[in-house]
Amino acid sequence: MQEIVRCATLAPNGHNTQPWMFDLSADRIAVTPDFSRRTPVVDPDDHHIWVSLGCATENMVIAAAALGKHADVKVDPQQIRVTFENGPSAPSPFVEAIFQRQCTRADYDSQPLANDVLKDLEGAGDRSDVRVLLLTERGKIEGVIEYVTQANSAQMRDPAFLSELKHWIRFDDSQAVSTGDGLAARSSGTPTSPPWIGGPLFNLFFREKSENDRYAKQLRSSAAVAVFVGARSDSASWFEVGRAYEHFALAATVLGIRTAFVNQPIEVAAVRSPFAGWLGIGSQRPDLVVRIGRGSQLPYSLRRPLAAVIG
Ligand SMILES: Cc1cc2nc3c(=O)[nH]c(=O)nc-3n(C[C@H](O)[C@H](O)[C@H](O)COP(=O)(O)O)c2cc1C
Repeated sequence: MQEIVRCATLAPNGHNTQPWMFDLSADRIAVTPDFSRRTPVVDPDDHHIWVSLGCATENMVIAAAALGKHADVKVDPQQIRVTFENGPSAPSPFVEAIFQRQCTRADYDSQPLANDVLKDLEGAGDRSDVRVLLLTERGKIEGVIEYVTQANSAQMRDPAFLSELKHWIRFDDSQAVSTGDGLAARSSGTPTSPPWIGGPLFNLFFREKSENDRYAKQLRSSAAVAVFVGARSDSASWFEVGRAYEHFALAATVLGIRTAFVNQPIEVAAVRSPFAGWLGIGSQRPDLVVRIGRGSQLPYSLRRPLAAVIG
């Protein structure tokens, strides 16, 4: 059961806050949100927390199958209950991908992906209640850049957003290792420096224009953008979006394809509706924006020890 939880903790999660607790019994794991790790500015309705729990649960289901356990997942408003029954062992390349996956915040190689690869990926993200919109045309990616720029500018002008982000940045390796969480500079492809230098440098050099330019360059180097759209705007639906995204990310990892979020247009409420209109999904809420492509790996982000997340 601990090994299954370990796989869960390797899942992507907003700002690497690891907003989860696991309660273990002989044949069951309950996953609850850890609201003490909320990021209220970027995620006021806890959308990202429930998506993160979905990602973690998808890892648990895949890891359990490989260990000969069939997982039954039930979503309550307050927690996720995963009950295990013995079954045939179902090894899958996805298990190894749980350990290899990362959000790769680097430029990609600007090459398109073959149509059958794109179809495989689209299928991997498909769940009954979640749609994946894959944008591959250059004109469409330029459109995404416009929304990312607009929303990123709004975030960069918001002192509360910057202060929350700074709180979760780990400026050097010793800070990253000591907390085991947060956004490590090294994993984001940015230079490391001791926190007492990194903090003031962040205030001086983390600027709207350079960040907008960096995102535009990263998006132009990507082969496609995937937008995940859940059926409803509630925690159970956000959880399903998380499961769909993680399945997609693991499939991409198996194929040697990188993924990274560019969620600004869904995080800034004033941009989200116009973005939905532009996508042609009407009043539905776009849940995640992800760029994909081929490129080099970056150093992995860290996780807290199991003892910190097992209740
Ligand atoms: C719901 C959700 C939202 C996220 N939003 C962003 C984002 O807007 N930008 C970004 O660079 N990473 C984003 N991430 C990625 C996390 O920062 C990343 O998963 C975390 O730092 C752990 O790193 P890893 O995925 O490489 O293991 C998001 C992840 C999740 C699950």
